[in-house]
Amino acid sequence: MKLVRLRDDARPRIALTLEGARIEAQQGDTLLTALLAAGAGYLRESEFEDGPRAGFCLMGACQDCWVTVVGRGRVRACATLAEPGMEVSRG
Ligand code: FES
Repeated sequence: MKLVRLRDDARPRIALTLEGARIEAQQGDTLLTALLAAGAGYLRESEFEDGPRAGFCLMGACQDCWVTVVGRGRVRACATLAEPGMEVSRG
């Protein structure tokens, strides 16, 4: 899955990493938006069935968007703002 920004591209850019690769986001993006708009494709593998997951509820309820942030542990990508310098990995 890739999110495509149709509007709202004037916010300041920030840089973070996904599994060591630099990605660019916009200030105010959630991690889910930042990762999927940058082309990450998915956020984690399902532990219950085959297949990648990319979030479902987008409001912090379903736990379908766990990612790991260095220094913070596992966080919900849809409920965590992207910050400059974050080091993120899937799952
Ligand atoms: S997408 Fe449901 S908790 Fe994040």
